[in-house]
Amino acid sequence: MRTTVGIIGAGPAGLLLARLLHDAGIESVVLESRDRAYVEQRQRAGILEQGTVDVLRAAGAGERMDREGLRHDGIELRFGGKRHRVDFPALTGGKSVMVYAQTEVCKDLIALRLKDGGPLLFEAEALAVEGAEGDRPRVRFRHQGAEEVLECDWVVGCDGFRGVARRAIPASVSRGFERTYPFGWLGILADVPPSHDELVYARHDRGFALLSMRPPVARHHPSEEVASLPVRSFVSRLYLQVPAGTDAGSWSDEAIWDELERRFETDDDWRLERGPITQKSVTPMRSYVHEPMRHGRLLLAGDAAHIVPPTGAKGLNLAVGDAVTLARALVHLRDTGSAGLLDTYSATCLRRVWQAERFSYDMTTLLHRAPDATPFDDRLQLARLERITASRAAETDLAEAYTGFPLV
Ligand code: FAD
Ligand code: DHB
Repeated sequence: MRTTVGIIGAGPAGLLLARLLHDAGIESVVLESRDRAYVEQRQRAGILEQGTVDVLRAAGAGERMDREGLRHDGIELRFGGKRHRVDFPALTGGKSVMVYAQTEVCKDLIALRLKDGGPLLFEAEALAVEGAEGDRPRVRFRHQGAEEVLECDWVVGCDGFRGVARRAIPASVSRGFERTYPFGWLGILADVPPSHDELVYARHDRGFALLSMRPPVARHHPSEEVASLPVRSFVSRLYLQVPAGTDAGSWSDEAIWDELERRFETDDDWRLERGPITQKSVTPMRSYVHEPMRHGRLLLAGDAAHIVPPTGAKGLNLAVGDAVTLARALVHLRDTGSAGLLDTYSATCLRRVWQAERFSYDMTTLLHRAPDATPFDDRLQLARLERITASRAAETDLAEAYTGFPLV
């Protein structure tokens, strides 16, 4: 099999890149190791920056997002029983974010890709990238029990943190920057309307908690005929800081709600509503950047090149920024014959990546309680939070980073 751009991975980075290239008339093949249902149901991100929303619209993938997504104009910071709202449009000259799940972004992009005529191969696992330093890079992959080769002009590794693409870059030219954290997030989905209409980031002596949500999903009432009008029911998405390595199964539903209630406690009469938990999992937390993001004719995009801890919701948005930057560079090459933008691809992306790394690290250390935290650390965290609530400059800094830096 032969194509212009071989894309490994059908997450947001790979699917969006394929769509942008298709729109520009550049051929690509997408290889995805998992099946379609898995990719469409894997619970992950939920917050889209303004720039990501604009890109999805321009790519023709914004119709359902605009119908079902929830525009959010702020978040709440909660600490010491107090509540503080950060007003994004007022602080950023009108910017906001969109609550729309990554699962839905992927569904929309997969549907478009299949409508465009693909190719998008599910259960096609890339085994290795070869020849990145020459003119004809190849991806060896396994599909339907047989080993095959995809010959390309360019190979793009959009295969996430544990993919194979990054491994094709020799250690002599690679540099990895990493930080791990001694905690993770226990995330749940629950069939109950969110107890607040905006996200709540809570700092508590017992650890961090986050209240988020998913847009209402259409469901048929079980007692009624299938033909009945669907009921649109809200879903809560909540996270708890837990020690690294925690098994989600070791937390009973009741224990989760009890702990959430404690960490969200306020001085006023705010109440956390409980409901049936439909999904439960633990996410480890890590900061990681691989430099450079290009080696010869192999390019990396999204989690394949960098990971942020989820506090601040930057991962998916970074993947979108990489895909846009790369599509632009490949179109520039096709139109002008100049590889100039491909040559600067890594440096261009890394500037934005490091800003997101900084912000995600700041948000994580601002709100989580390390197991070895001292009373000094606790007071410092509270002073940092007080500063954000007391200074418009400090609050603006948070609002600008949260709603997103320019994509390219
Ligand atoms: P992925 O989504 O990981 O996609 C990679 C794809 O490659 C996968 O489909 C995988 O199956 C496939 N693949 C892997 N290896 C191979 C192979 N060898 N061959 C073929 N295919 C392969 N980000 C935000 O912006 N906002 C948020 O609110 C947010 N919240 C998060 C909450 C949680 C709990 C988690 C876990 C993450 C969150 N993130 C968030 C991060 C975000 O989900 C990721 O950054 C995003 O998925 C990156 O997209 P990607 O396309 O680079 O990689
Ligand atoms: C969600 C995830 C995040 O990492 C975050 O900062 C906010 C919301 C979510 O999944 O809804």
